[in-house]
Amino acid sequence: MENSKPVGVVLVGCGGRGVGAHGAAAVRSAKLNLIAVCDLDDQRREAAAQQLGVEGVKDYHDLLRRPDVQATIVATNAKYHAPIALDAIQAGKHVLIEKPLAEDAATARPLADAAEARGVIGMVGYQLRFSEFAGVFHEEAAGVDPIQALMTIQRGPMGPQYFFADHYGGVVDTATHTIHLALWAMGGEPEAVYGSTHRGTVRGDQTIEAMNLMIEYDGGARTATVVSSMFGMQAANLVQVIGRRGHVSSTDRKTLHIVTHEGIGPGPRNVAGLRARTVDTSGGMDVSTDRMLEHFADLITGVATVQEGATLREGMYAVAMTGAMVQAAASGRRVALASILGTGE
Ligand SMILES: NC(=O)c1ccc[n+]([C@@H]2O[C@H](COP(=O)([O-])OP(=O)(O)OC[C@H]3O[C@@H](n4cnc5c(N)ncnc54)[C@H](O)[C@@H]3O)[C@@H](O)[C@H]2O)c1
Repeated sequence: MENSKPVGVVLVGCGGRGVGAHGAAAVRSAKLNLIAVCDLDDQRREAAAQQLGVEGVKDYHDLLRRPDVQATIVATNAKYHAPIALDAIQAGKHVLIEKPLAEDAATARPLADAAEARGVIGMVGYQLRFSEFAGVFHEEAAGVDPIQALMTIQRGPMGPQYFFADHYGGVVDTATHTIHLALWAMGGEPEAVYGSTHRGTVRGDQTIEAMNLMIEYDGGARTATVVSSMFGMQAANLVQVIGRRGHVSSTDRKTLHIVTHEGIGPGPRNVAGLRARTVDTSGGMDVSTDRMLEHFADLITGVATVQEGATLREGMYAVAMTGAMVQAAASGRRVALASILGTGE
């Protein structure tokens, strides 16, 4: 069913991400009507209300009672995502929740369950999904039938606000986008995780400064590995999927090298129908938040019927990965996801 009226949306959390990305994109979009912004911090709330030209409200519960509010964007700090989003879902509001979906996988799971049960749209703010690069990469990766993924996101030192000991802090704050890309490209349900972390070199605290994560599928027959650190200034980064029918890789998250074949046998050149090609994409994540919000609106009005953005269940798996990685690093053992998700084992 198509609805030409813009979707009434509110923003909870007036930090840089909330106002600069979501608030600004909502105001730019003809498909959304930003009704109000909400923050517990008076200064932040008032500055955001003024900048975006909308009402400022202190308590998000007041917004959830309003019938003109159809959707809520949750862009608070991670530990408040779940309680706010759960209240919004229970009030029948569609939710777009920033990454990481929740503090841990056990908290994320009821969110995914609740949105599915209540029949509201739930999306996680992995805006990379809406970049041309990720779209082409995902499609080409599916075409080669993935067996292995290797993705690195090496970067320089991060700002003081990222220095805290939780599994989603430090270098994981940005690596979560790459972890999500790896999960999306591999397809299927991850089963277990091996991991290691490095802490304490930059500031002498427990912030994760480097991480290695290996994700197992199909009893270990398929794996995805994500490597990241804040010691990798100017290091080259790789995004690569190797599959039964070829491989896809990029060293700049813009140009993709794709090699496909029709079958391989033993022997150095025993490859049938080998074909190589290069696809250039626009790369970048700059316009992706706008696209993510417009798609969110299209899903609500029924213009789009298939969700392209990350579901809450996908967000739950991304959170589960880093929680499990930290457990694996501490114990030196493989961690089954069922134990992290509270579904058994
Ligand atoms: N997708 C991306 O690329 C991307 C980029 C940056 C940040 N983020 C994510 O966006 C979220 C916000 O990041 P940020 O840097 O803007 O954070 P921030 O800490 O600057 O802002 C969060 C705001 O939420 C407010 N808040 C907390 N609890 C509240 C409540 N109960 N009601 C109302 N307001 C409340 C705080 O007062 C604060 O102003 C985080 O989850 C972060 O990981 C995503």
